[in-house]
Amino acid sequence: MQNEEYLRLKGLMEEHVLYFLPEVDRKSYTLYEAMAYSLNAGGKMLRPVLLLAACDFCGGDEKLALPYACAIEYIHTYSLIHDDLPAMDNDDLRRGIPTNHKVFGEAVAILAGDGLLTSAFEAMNKDMLLYLDNMEKLKRRVRAVYEISKGAGCRGMIAGQIADIEAENKECTKEILDYIHLNKTAALIKAAIRAGAHLGGADKETLDNLDEYAENIGLAFQIMDDVLDLSGDEELLGKKTGSDKSKMKATYPCRYGLPESIDKIKELTDNAKRAIEPYYDNAEFFVKLADELADRVR
Ligand code: IPE
Ligand code: IPE
Ligand code: MG
Ligand code: MG
Ligand code: MG
Repeated sequence: MQNEEYLRLKGLMEEHVLYFLPEVDRKSYTLYEAMAYSLNAGGKMLRPVLLLAACDFCGGDEKLALPYACAIEYIHTYSLIHDDLPAMDNDDLRRGIPTNHKVFGEAVAILAGDGLLTSAFEAMNKDMLLYLDNMEKLKRRVRAVYEISKGAGCRGMIAGQIADIEAENKECTKEILDYIHLNKTAALIKAAIRAGAHLGGADKETLDNLDEYAENIGLAFQIMDDVLDLSGDEELLGKKTGSDKSKMKATYPCRYGLPESIDKIKELTDNAKRAIEPYYDNAEFFVKLADELADRVR
């Protein structure tokens, strides 16, 4: 993603991403090292950028949304560390460097994931404590945390991850394939945008339109991830290609073939842009981003 606003928000995230981790004592320093290793490895920062952009778009102050943006990146990064473990996708390369368990061992990688997940909620709750006397601002934050917990949890990302694991080595229905993609990936992307919108004080109509946008780019994002796993460049992606095929994962290209998967990405991208048409002049960032995501190579 090369648009200026994306790069600006990504830069802001890279500056702050370690800032909201709790201080750890020397005896548990390995935990901090393992968490920081994956956070600093050069991810795209898509989810926190979306959260900050949605907050801006709805009239909020992006700097005040940083604890929530960092929290969602902690959750996403934990999900990748666990996703790469031998018991799950068993991958050796992530974000262009060896996966967390390859460097620190499986036990530490599991704990680094646990540490990132809990740190996310600690960071958000610590921020909420600052607003106990301001019910309006506190409400926005409580709503944001609810979106993030729901998207990351058993009715969102984790639900998708278990369905993904259970669908390995099997023929799966269209319904299950959509369920996997909508939950393991679109749910957290949607949570990022909805949380940012709440923090910015969105009205119901804007929230609904952004939700529609998010679901469409979220699904398109995972289909593109599957397409790139099959036909992308390892160097650019920073992860091994062919990983889905070797585990017989339930993916769009596997079920529908590459051309149809690419058509589906285009259709979802059009749907996403249509959802924010009412704001066209002000939603330039979201329009550009939808197009860039549909063309991405990393
Ligand atoms: C990878 O997410 C996992 C999926 C949900 C497809 P990203 O492609 O956003 O990974 P990073 O954060 O840039 O490493
Ligand atoms: C990962 O999906 C989704 C989550 C981590 C929640 P994939 O397993 O397809 O992601 P990659 O391809 O390993 O990044
Ligand atoms: Mg996986
Ligand atoms: Mg994986
Ligand atoms: Mg993948």
